[in-house]
Amino acid sequence: MKPTPFLAALILTACATADTPAPSAVTHAEDSHSHARPAEVRVTHVALDLTPDFEARTLTGTARLALERAAGADSVILDVEGLTISSITTPAGDALDFGIGADDPILGQALTVRLPDAADTIIVAYRTAPDAAALQWLDPAQTAGGRMPFLFTQGQAILTRTWVPTQDSPGIRQTYEAIIRVPSGMQAVMSAELLTPDGVSSEDGRTAYRFRLDQPIPPYLIALAAGNLEFREIGPRSGVWAEPGIVDAAADEFMEVEAMIDAAERLYGPYRWGRYDILVLPPSFPFGGMENPRLTFATPTILAGDRSLVSLVAHELAHSWSGNLVTNAVWNDFWLNEGFTSYIEARIMEELRGRDYADMLRQLGRQDLEETISDIGVNAPDTHLQLDLAGRNPDDGMTSVAYDKGAAFLEAIEAEVGRERLDTFLREYFDEFAFQPMTSEQFVQYMNQELFAGDDAAAARVQAERWIYGPGLPDNAQVVRSAAFERVDSQLVAFRAGTPPARLETADWSTHEWLRFLRALPDTISNAQLTALDDTFGFTGSGNSEIMFAWLRIAIRNRYQPAMPALEEFLSSQGRRKFIAPLYQDLAATEWGAPVAREIYGRVRSTYHPITSNTVDQILDWEPSGR
Ligand code: BES
Ligand code: ZN
Repeated sequence: MKPTPFLAALILTACATADTPAPSAVTHAEDSHSHARPAEVRVTHVALDLTPDFEARTLTGTARLALERAAGADSVILDVEGLTISSITTPAGDALDFGIGADDPILGQALTVRLPDAADTIIVAYRTAPDAAALQWLDPAQTAGGRMPFLFTQGQAILTRTWVPTQDSPGIRQTYEAIIRVPSGMQAVMSAELLTPDGVSSEDGRTAYRFRLDQPIPPYLIALAAGNLEFREIGPRSGVWAEPGIVDAAADEFMEVEAMIDAAERLYGPYRWGRYDILVLPPSFPFGGMENPRLTFATPTILAGDRSLVSLVAHELAHSWSGNLVTNAVWNDFWLNEGFTSYIEARIMEELRGRDYADMLRQLGRQDLEETISDIGVNAPDTHLQLDLAGRNPDDGMTSVAYDKGAAFLEAIEAEVGRERLDTFLREYFDEFAFQPMTSEQFVQYMNQELFAGDDAAAARVQAERWIYGPGLPDNAQVVRSAAFERVDSQLVAFRAGTPPARLETADWSTHEWLRFLRALPDTISNAQLTALDDTFGFTGSGNSEIMFAWLRIAIRNRYQPAMPALEEFLSSQGRRKFIAPLYQDLAATEWGAPVAREIYGRVRSTYHPITSNTVDQILDWEPSGR
């Protein structure tokens, strides 16, 4: 059920003054991706005590859950998937009855625990499955150093339930603490405050690290990594964790992060999470970045050596406001996380590098959006900002629509009211709804009330309903112009007219200008022309992952043989789904490429994260048993 405007207004008044509202004050939007019934009993705090076994690929231990109960409720429903549960008890040690429901392929299982009168704490003793989707266990050979195994988690969207038995819905915020017992010599890190920087060693060859996060978060943000990690300080409240061999390069790449935090605070109010650190993961990390609180998880493929791909850090940092502070209540409203964040990402980069730079980012995003809309259909429901993901994997919502149509909507609002008013409004929005879930309906109601107070004509001009509940790109979308890209486009015209690559004016181009150039090259290019481009600009040897990716797509499209070893290397040396999936897709679309794709995939599939291999399995029609 969606809150009606009337209900939404009630929610607004109920929460208006509270800083962190009592859980009971929060009304829960119906989440089709969770079994939980938070109105009856809800989890407010999770305390983990977990020991990883790198041989067996399991986490074993306990989760102590603090519960808040409504009168009359006699059982709590948790989300789980593939957990082996050995017991559920009260803190006094009394065993509790529990039952595990049928395994839904998307939702996993409901774990129902009978609660004795007045019980407000339960302890679940359990073990994770070796193929738990949130966990990737890496052999030493899959790390940069090659010395130690590595483990990391990825909770978003609904994978936390594969390693933590809790109510796994973004509308059910929980604080958490943890003890993680790793083999001595290994470092554990989490999206929380590290209370024991040196760890506590014990006789059994393990070191225990303790963590705590006092701010309530949606469970998809509970995150853990363990491996051979070192820390380098960057600024007073920022630093980087990475394997020893790359930690200095990472610290240098992210040198601007403190300036990013300052810029974001000037725009949208205080950073409320204490520290902001970045963890650089091994190359199989399936995403570019993940905004785990206090500790962004990032792919090493953004270490370009020239700080040219750090807008990704601005993006993950921006989630400290949009997403982590004010959170989509359900995955249908994913755009409230990603659209706001993409808008803020560009604003932060504009503060750091200026308008021209930010406009290049906006233009590339707009191009992604136009391609996505034309791919899925200009009238397709999946081009609405608010999605209908019931019965589907919420990852289906991870398209350019949530990101770039969402950002375009905020740009349209900005054009109507001006930057100053929008900035003030957003600062108030983050303040008002800090640590609370948000729905599209609630946002529109709050915007109409605060930003358009009384000005119905202005509210009508932004067409919120069309943007959120309608398809495609509404006609008040701002035209994005980039002066830098206009210069690139003139060189493209010259190239098309026969100017040899060496005579193109590319001297001061940055990564983004190159991306514009590569994306706009003609679909069909002769091998002679590709060779000339490659000889002049060295694309096949590029150390920049985004440029390499754009070039490899062109190489596949035109069967440019000299790039094939680089393609194979790119597909086997990192597992970022955004790069991996389109390349297999491009290969599979050609007669010569389909067998090449299957041959490479057969060799490297096991090194990919399940998030990436599940997508490629579908692209290649791969039988998971292996063929
Ligand atoms: N929160 C997302 C990643 C995500 C979304 C993971 C949905 C699982 C489900 C993160 O903030 C993100 O958007 N990452 C992007 C990079 C960004 C610069 C667009 C990515 O990983 O490509
Ligand atoms: Zn994001």
